[in-house]
Amino acid sequence: MYVCICNAVTEKDIHRAVKQGVSSLDQLSEVTAVSLRCGSCQKKACQALETALSNL
Ligand code: FES
Repeated sequence: MYVCICNAVTEKDIHRAVKQGVSSLDQLSEVTAVSLRCGSCQKKACQALETALSNL
């Protein structure tokens, strides 16, 4: 499922990034470009990031 429509970032992309060492929204944006356009996905991106981190 898409978290960021603007940049086509999915929950799977976020989980993959976390497995590669991402641990903050800034890092996640650098790696996936999530939240770098309209920004409306920021809350969902944070939630997905927290979920991914808690599943490590
Ligand atoms: S939906 Fe993610 S930047 Fe627009």
